Amino acid sequence: MRIVALDLHPPDAFVQTRCHRVVTGDISDIALLDNLAATYDFDAVYHLAALLSTKSERQPRLANKVNVDGTINLLEFTVSQARQQGRAIKFLYPSSIAVHGLPDLATKARAGKVCEDDWCEPTTMYGINKLYCERLGRYYETYYRQLDAAPTVGGIDFRCIRFPGLISALTVPTGGTSDYAPEMLHAAASGRSYACFVRPDTTIPFMAMPDAIEALSRLEAVPRERLSRKVYSIGSFAPSAAQIYDRVKQAFPMADVKFVPDLKRQGIVDSWPVDVDDSAARRDWGWEPVFDFDRAFDDYLIPAVNKRYRQPPGR
Ligand code: SER
Repeated sequence: MRIVALDLHPPDAFVQTRCHRVVTGDISDIALLDNLAATYDFDAVYHLAALLSTKSERQPRLANKVNVDGTINLLEFTVSQARQQGRAIKFLYPSSIAVHGLPDLATKARAGKVCEDDWCEPTTMYGINKLYCERLGRYYETYYRQLDAAPTVGGIDFRCIRFPGLISALTVPTGGTSDYAPEMLHAAASGRSYACFVRPDTTIPFMAMPDAIEALSRLEAVPRERLSRKVYSIGSFAPSAAQIYDRVKQAFPMADVKFVPDLKRQGIVDSWPVDVDDSAARRDWGWEPVFDFDRAFDDYLIPAVNKRYRQPPGR
């Protein structure tokens, strides 16, 4: 497999060694995308670029430009690839729990694990962008330019996963609202104090990054006829912020974490479901996380952050 990577910033040296070519650029740059489309035949497009939910609230027009226009640019890019190659090209799109919007905590508690089609009333610019782009994917696959004399159908094979909050041992996200979990962990591991911006009882689903990566490549590999939907929710574990704190404190007893809720960011997390029903993904393409809450911390996050911040375990 040869990967052509496009990002605003060059990736680290290890990632570069895994790529056939690294291009530094912007998905808003149509000339750049045209140039790439003319140079290569792509089997699949993974569209991972986005402004996350907190940043999108602060800059909604920029969010629309990156999250929506950027997605349209890549969908058009994929249509042109399909024409060039005379076959359907896969388009992998990560969406988010942020497409859901629960009106209040009582409803959130009552709703429990939400299915893909429930509570799709996002309250954030990011959630609205993601929900719209899911629907654009369906449009480009099935209805694109439906009034043309010879419509271009079948050009895009759109596959989407709605991810919960992702926790990586290697990178700290920026601009998200589920960031309190990775921020708390990385702050504790690197000996910094941390003010957690949500209440201890706050609960949303999370996932360890290796499971998220595995899910995308598994969804890419599955034969189309096994997929009953274009958009799948997946989950792994759904701890409260207090449970995350307890786990972090267990690994780093010196951790200095305080809960200082930011009521506005709290409101965003409170509108997201307590967990997701991922039975469609389990049934259709065998989704199953490797990492539950304990394994995510014991076997992945704690050893890797210890290595990253060069501290012996348990300090
Ligand atoms: N992690 C995202 C955010 O916090 C949600 O998908 O914005």
